[in-house]
Amino acid sequence: MKKGLFITFEGIEGCGKTTQMNLLAGYLKKEGASVLKTREPGGTKIGEKIREILLNPDNKKMSKETEMLLYGASRTQHIEEIIRPALKSGKIVLCDRYADSTLAYQGFGRNMGVSFIKKACPLSLGSIQPDLTILLDLDVKTGLSRIKNRKGGNDRIEKEKIAFHNKVRKGYLKLAKTSRGRIKIVKADKEIDEIQKEIKDIVIRKLRSKE
Ligand code: TMP
Repeated sequence: MKKGLFITFEGIEGCGKTTQMNLLAGYLKKEGASVLKTREPGGTKIGEKIREILLNPDNKKMSKETEMLLYGASRTQHIEEIIRPALKSGKIVLCDRYADSTLAYQGFGRNMGVSFIKKACPLSLGSIQPDLTILLDLDVKTGLSRIKNRKGGNDRIEKEKIAFHNKVRKGYLKLAKTSRGRIKIVKADKEIDEIQKEIKDIVIRKLRSKE
């Protein structure tokens, strides 16, 4: 059924995943691959509306359960409308954040627990597993200093305390340990080109293993 390749990009705020994903997309397209670039929360018209609710700093009252379900709702729509059809038609799908974000941010950051989320709401984690996940790992202080002066100010999640972001980072590293090789950690405190080269090597290896 699934012919394409599903690659997700993960990491804390300011880790550079969007830049790296865009560079990889450019490279793969130049090599002749059929690539679809997308993001979560969002990726669809409905998902982008959910994104606005999730990230709006005015929504201070949002409960962690509502938060988890909204990320899950955006993901479900995204899978059915965009990801599954793209994979079926053989595309390489590059997605800026996916289910590991829910486990790291809501599971660890919000202390909901990975096993709770997996048991209570498996649908929120999506019915498709990535083939490969690039985790850009960076020190939280460095990441937050990079996003401090973002145009339009910081969003509801970016505005969380440093302790929250530290839990998210540790969560990601724990997830990587138990991912049976799906999550590849790439150190993000290096030059953009150096990081991109590492990512390209990982992706090329993955593509070759599928041939
Ligand atoms: P972005 O700005 O990197 O696109 O991500 C949006 C924010 O949403 C980011 O702070 C991480 C957060 N997030 C979650 O908390 N849970 C999720 O499941 C996803 C996809 C993102």
